[in-house]
Amino acid sequence: MTNQTAEYLAAIEHSLQQALLSPDEQVTPLYEMMAYHLGWRSETLQPVSAPQGKRLRPLLCLLACQAAGGDWRSALPAATALELVHNFTLIHDDIEDRSDTRRHRPTVWKLWGIPQAINTGDAMWSVAKLALLEPSDVPLSPERLLEIVRTFESACLALCQGQYLDIAFEERATVSLDEYERMIAGKTGALLAACTESGALAAGASKEVAEYYRAFGAQLGLAFQMVDDILGVWGDPQVTGKSAADDLINHKKAFPLLYTLHWEAERGLNDLTTLIERPYREEDLAPMLKLLERAGARAATQARVDARLAGTLEALDRAGAAEPAYSILQELVHTLAVRSA
Ligand code: IPE
Ligand code: IPE
Ligand code: MG
Ligand code: MG
Repeated sequence: MTNQTAEYLAAIEHSLQQALLSPDEQVTPLYEMMAYHLGWRSETLQPVSAPQGKRLRPLLCLLACQAAGGDWRSALPAATALELVHNFTLIHDDIEDRSDTRRHRPTVWKLWGIPQAINTGDAMWSVAKLALLEPSDVPLSPERLLEIVRTFESACLALCQGQYLDIAFEERATVSLDEYERMIAGKTGALLAACTESGALAAGASKEVAEYYRAFGAQLGLAFQMVDDILGVWGDPQVTGKSAADDLINHKKAFPLLYTLHWEAERGLNDLTTLIERPYREEDLAPMLKLLERAGARAATQARVDARLAGTLEALDRAGAAEPAYSILQELVHTLAVRSA
């Protein structure tokens, strides 16, 4: 980790903590449930240091700001807000995906039930919006702030559209590769695109340059989600901190499964279709994995990730990013290609 990255991460952590201070004792447990999700509290809501996530989105935002020639502190409110939105969507996503584990610990809904988990997520979304409007040490003009607010809100809506498709596709026998791409562009690409675009906007970048940064984040988001799809099948739960095989259990149209469906269709086979046409049973998992292996789904997904990452680096070059952020962003792209968590 570079000194720059460490400085950014420390500032992000401080800013997140400031955003989540409880206003009064009666509602403190609500804030403590949010703190639990962020790795600062235990299951009994005692202070603890648990896994907090990679903080990828706020880092991208601050790095994009520096790369576009700005003072990173001007992007700190946006970076904080974007990480909070990410975490809000994870709290809800774990309900939607029936996931028991996140970041090596029980999910919020598993511990406090679905009604409190929905509300905890909603509260975090509101805290995020307020964090975005917090004055920074390097203030933005009202016009710039408004552009960032629009970018932020549009990303939240696009994310919900992506989540809609992701959930709807569970019930579908198959989906096209274009439909898949639309889904991941929404559920993951939109927020990463908003991170890099907001960073550039906070730096005072022109519309054209901000658009290059946006494209960089959007492309990175697609590659990032496809790596998540690989980890969703073959990842080690001890490393990812998420339950194993959730995607297969839920018949999610993640890329490895989708690739296998298309691979079989091209060969007049329908073994996987037969398995996913009926409700999931525990004994289906091993044969599903075998079918994915027969189709070479893992290598095919990784090849698609690699192609996407090449596009990501091209977008970063077009943005004309300045050092040292440029090198750090390049390095980040390479690390994400081979991540295991
Ligand atoms: C998980 O995101 C959800 C996806 C969009 C794939 P991250 O892998 O960035 O989650 P944390 O914040 O590091 O835990
Ligand atoms: C990623 O969802 C996008 C959002 C959470 C909005 P996934 O369901 O694919 O991510 P994980 O694997 O649960 O982290
Ligand atoms: Mg999901
Ligand atoms: Mg999920």
